[in-house]
Amino acid sequence: MTHVLHRRIAHSYPFAVSGHGITIRDSVGKEYIDASGGAAVSCLGHSHPDVLRAMREQVDKLAYAHTSFFTTQVAEELADDLVAHAPDGIGHVLFVSGGSEAIEAALKLARQYFVESGEPQRRYFIARRQSYHGTTLGALAVGGREWQRREFAPLLIETQHVSPAYEYRGRRVDETPQAYGERLARELDARITELGADHVIAFVAETVVGASLGAVPAPPGYFQRVREICDRHRILLILDEVMCGMGRTGTLHACEQEEIAPDLMAIAKGLGGGYAPIGALLMQDKIFETVAGGSGAFQHGHTYMGHPLACAAALAVQGVIRRDKLLANVRTQGAYLSRRLNERFGNHPYVGDVRGRGLFQGIELVADRGTKEPFDPGLKLHARVKSEAMARGLMVYPMGGTVDGVRGDHVLLAPPFIVEAPLLDTVVERLGEAIDAATAS
Ligand SMILES: Cc1ncc(COP(=O)(O)O)c(C=O)c1O
Repeated sequence: MTHVLHRRIAHSYPFAVSGHGITIRDSVGKEYIDASGGAAVSCLGHSHPDVLRAMREQVDKLAYAHTSFFTTQVAEELADDLVAHAPDGIGHVLFVSGGSEAIEAALKLARQYFVESGEPQRRYFIARRQSYHGTTLGALAVGGREWQRREFAPLLIETQHVSPAYEYRGRRVDETPQAYGERLARELDARITELGADHVIAFVAETVVGASLGAVPAPPGYFQRVREICDRHRILLILDEVMCGMGRTGTLHACEQEEIAPDLMAIAKGLGGGYAPIGALLMQDKIFETVAGGSGAFQHGHTYMGHPLACAAALAVQGVIRRDKLLANVRTQGAYLSRRLNERFGNHPYVGDVRGRGLFQGIELVADRGTKEPFDPGLKLHARVKSEAMARGLMVYPMGGTVDGVRGDHVLLAPPFIVEAPLLDTVVERLGEAIDAATAS
């Protein structure tokens, strides 16, 4: 009998006892290939010796010092490192303990920026349907996953949602990808105007949509138009790169491939690679300077922000990624994984789409490829795929609600950056078997 409130109360979870490289072993000795890095977290795999060494060295020196009393060398070094590789104009970093906290901080800093700029009337956030930004109340409010928001709707700050950039289902047959992106951009522009541009704080979006759509990049030109619209209306652009950032798509930040820089950017998962809980909010100088020259303090704080052990882990993770040139491997192995997925599922009767960027790939499951009709949500196909995969020693990250927040299923793959082609062959083979078994009855 467990005393832990597990994610699914009636479910019996295996005990994870050790991890090495790309595998996790449970208490009965069964091994699982970690083809999703948990939830796109373990970018270096498990038990990386260099990260463990850095963490041990840090903990031997100092495990914790509250940030209202001290700064630490390791937090300063990590901030220097992040700023040195950040998009243009980003000069400061706020450390937190995960993705939801980074998004909460982004929403509050965006609001505080406008209050201190003499525009306290600004109160709306605009975000996109079928997006995921975390589970705390602010993050849930901007998130667009209907099944997760519904129960808490009366508690959420008012947020406006526009269409996701979701080419497989959103683009009309008579539209080019560019024209589709332009239509979405015009929808955002119109919504801002409708609300009154000087009442809007920010537009919030995942650069590549992760858990809620399954690795869906935006159509070409979309984010450049979004950047231009935000600038024209003087509203902030908050990019959520908690899942898609820190190398996952083949560049350190996913927005590099869109050739834009956000005003605020949330990162987490791959930042510390799962070795310690850490997230961060990166901010443009104009935001930092407004607060620095105004009240002089961001009205926000957590007990564990800038935790030295977490900073040491993140610094080591980022150092290894650079030293071992792992972003090149993300691009090479990502292209290979995409090819293998297309070969295996390109004509599969229950796979409608294969998409993604780098080692961030998704497949969408459909009952009918021609009509794109999803499976009955009552079947919980995504959960069946997950348990069939686990039974075969494979971790992938399936999710439901893909189509509209309720219907639809997809599977997300996000293997560690150290993965090589032969292992990806095994991943695709086992995933194929799991999907065939889950859709058999
Ligand atoms: C895009 C995105 N934003 C925010 C979050 C929330 O992060 P956390 O679970 O660390 O709070 C997630 C988690 O999956 C995410 O994928």
